[in-house]
Amino acid sequence: MSRKLLLEKAHIENIRLYDVYRREGGYRSVEKALKTMSTDAIVEEVKKSGLRGRGGAGFPTGMKWSFIAKPEGVPRHLVVNADESEPGTFKDRYLMEFIPHLLIEGMIVSSFALGSNVSYIYIRGEYAWIVDILEQAIAEAKNNGWLGKNILGSGFDCEIYVQRGAGAYICGEETALIESLEGKRGNPRIKPPFPAVQGVWQRPTVVNNVETIAAVVPIINEGGEEYAKIGIGKSTGTKLISACGNINKPGVYEIDMTISVEEFIYSDEWCGGIKNKKRLKACIPGGSSVPILPANLLLTTAKGEKRLMNYESLSDGGFATGSMMGSGGFIVLDEDQCVVKHTYTLARFYRHESCGQCSPCREGTGWMEKYC
Ligand SMILES: Cc1cc2nc3c(=O)[nH]c(=O)nc-3n(C[C@H](O)[C@H](O)[C@H](O)COP(=O)(O)O)c2cc1C
Repeated sequence: MSRKLLLEKAHIENIRLYDVYRREGGYRSVEKALKTMSTDAIVEEVKKSGLRGRGGAGFPTGMKWSFIAKPEGVPRHLVVNADESEPGTFKDRYLMEFIPHLLIEGMIVSSFALGSNVSYIYIRGEYAWIVDILEQAIAEAKNNGWLGKNILGSGFDCEIYVQRGAGAYICGEETALIESLEGKRGNPRIKPPFPAVQGVWQRPTVVNNVETIAAVVPIINEGGEEYAKIGIGKSTGTKLISACGNINKPGVYEIDMTISVEEFIYSDEWCGGIKNKKRLKACIPGGSSVPILPANLLLTTAKGEKRLMNYESLSDGGFATGSMMGSGGFIVLDEDQCVVKHTYTLARFYRHESCGQCSPCREGTGWMEKYC
């Protein structure tokens, strides 16, 4: 049985409500951080945990936080990326829908560490009902003194605002997201400057995925070193996987990144095997933008070892024989599926979602669709 750090309490009745969440130990990390820790100590703890960004690229979170510029008198911002528009990825939706206070709690601690007095959640427009859930959680947190002025007498002020996107995949890319948050068309910015130096309204900004920020709660509660003991190598902690396609038990699972892909697909604890006892044909293991793997390469790495559900093992072999952990959108295809047809569907999606700013994508995605 895999250890759960994020979803352990997600099944508790009414955990969405503040009173129940608090009764179950919620907001302890805020108390610990604001009353007993310095901002540098929090960043250090996140570094020690080895946490890597859960939005797709897997960049070390503590290192990203330490890059934030601190010019005198200039406000800084934390922006949570809840755009989640990658086909096959629906883990952030689950977390926000069922245990929204975990995200708010993580945001308060992270905002404190980064010196952000005004933080944002940028959420995909189609998640309209989750906006209501988040706004209720924010209002409850505020009514109970976890947001607003001088939180817990620490001198730290913090507000959280939710901003809805309008259904554009590109707005998940952090600089396009920032443009959209500022009320402009969501075109990516040229980097550098990076958001850590000039982000929202040209102010130093950290953009992190929903799951990344939620993971800050167990890191602060249990300590970075304890968190790093879970998992393997540079894949520390737990990871949410949204599993879908031809499997018996589609859903969102929290895994500890030591299990094999085979176990994940066939064990009753996870996907429960291929539907109707069909054979496995292929799988897109990390959301629609990562390479698809045929069954033989999916279960075994280029070195002939069992492929594990983690960053290193999934990418073993590079793009030739490996894939990526990506955003954890795990799409399984059985023997009856046509890979060409699925590729066509995805090519059409990327052609439609291209923002048109750079020619390789603007022109190339159209040709890919045409010749699929
Ligand atoms: C086209 C595109 C779409 C993206 N969509 C998302 C998204 O929906 N959610 C997300 O967290 N990151 C997304 N990213 C990655 C973000 O740019 C950014 O790296 C991430 O939010 C950083 O958070 P993390 O370090 O916590 O992973 C996308 C990137 C690209 C290029």
